[in-house]
Amino acid sequence: MKMIWQLFGTHIIFVSTVLTTLIAWLFWPRQKKRTRSFLIRTSGLVALTGLLLALFTYWPRTYEKQYLETAISSEIIITPLKALADSIGFYIGVATSSESEYKSLIAQEFNSVVGENDFKPGQLLTNAEEWAFDFSKADKLSAFAASHNMRLRGHTLIWGKFAGMTYPKYWNKQIKEAVDPKKEMTAIMTRYINTVMRRYKGKVSSWDVVNEPMDGINLFPSPFTEALGEEYIDLAFNLARVADPDCELFLNEQINDYYGRDGQAFLALLRRLLRRNVPIDGVGLQTHNVKGLHNLEALTRYLRDIGDMGLKVEITELDVRLLLLKDTKDPYAAQGLQYGGVTQICLEDPACVGVTLWGLTDGSNWMDSVPPFKWKSPNAPNIYDEDMRMKPAYVEIWKALERGE
Ligand code: XIL
Repeated sequence: MKMIWQLFGTHIIFVSTVLTTLIAWLFWPRQKKRTRSFLIRTSGLVALTGLLLALFTYWPRTYEKQYLETAISSEIIITPLKALADSIGFYIGVATSSESEYKSLIAQEFNSVVGENDFKPGQLLTNAEEWAFDFSKADKLSAFAASHNMRLRGHTLIWGKFAGMTYPKYWNKQIKEAVDPKKEMTAIMTRYINTVMRRYKGKVSSWDVVNEPMDGINLFPSPFTEALGEEYIDLAFNLARVADPDCELFLNEQINDYYGRDGQAFLALLRRLLRRNVPIDGVGLQTHNVKGLHNLEALTRYLRDIGDMGLKVEITELDVRLLLLKDTKDPYAAQGLQYGGVTQICLEDPACVGVTLWGLTDGSNWMDSVPPFKWKSPNAPNIYDEDMRMKPAYVEIWKALERGE
């Protein structure tokens, strides 16, 4: 129900009115003539209003690209983000794929890279029943990073959402049928983490060991929680520490409201993990601005709270959905300010070591292919537009890096 609500929001009220009217009309054919014609007219009206509402809601909008009217200073054009970030010992990274056509631009602009999908269990473990792996894409991205002296982040080892994409569906079956689910899951995680981490030892210097553990204020239910409860997180980090003791181990979260209940529940989880001496080095804050804009003041405080626990922080998946800024005079400029603001906050916090952008160009971005975001456009969440022109987002990150810490 929650999922349906998230997908359709208030439209669900309208959709159910339409359905109820239709059902009433279909199933009561022996109604009096007057009642029937009333039902027909009402349902017609409801359907028409629904159609108009849907057209109004989902019709793609465009916003004027005012940034095309102002020339970008030559200093910004000739000095890549990477040069500025290197000079202050900061990571500026991007999520990409081993097949990206923009590899040379990426090597020029960024000093850190992460696989958008190439390192996910759903990609690597092609047959869970036979433990068959396909490392070809991940190896290619790893070689690319190494040949350009870029840091490589690993994303992600354990992720308990959406079976099939984030972990093999077979694991659900295996745990359901296991005589001792705890033992079974411990064996699965041990084998998976050891195989993957050992392969990229010395290449991936920082892994998202667990991704998106929460569902609101509770743990996201998965075969991992089913078998081990919250301690699947402890196990993942303990295994990772042994598999590659030099690698930085991150817990990557997806929080929409840092100072709401979800954000606080995540801090409580962190405190519990630290109390149990789980070897966590840092927290990845995805910072997708996709369901709403992040409040920058709340983000500042949140970073400080995590830093105060003695943990590092990284902004790991930054993007800003353009549609969220539809009520501003210049949505592209406002999008730029949000990018610059988040970068600035990270730069100013001693615990925050870098910012990774989730994608490079509006021409191919994840929101255009993932429901419900793909249904309402423009998403245009990245720092280059579809014609590879620098957007205000690029310029604002550049300025923040130039100001430095
Ligand atoms: C997304 C990718 O960008 C898409 O290409 C893929 O279809 C789905 O996953 N949080 C995460 C990322 O941790 O791994 C997700 O990446 C975006 C949300």
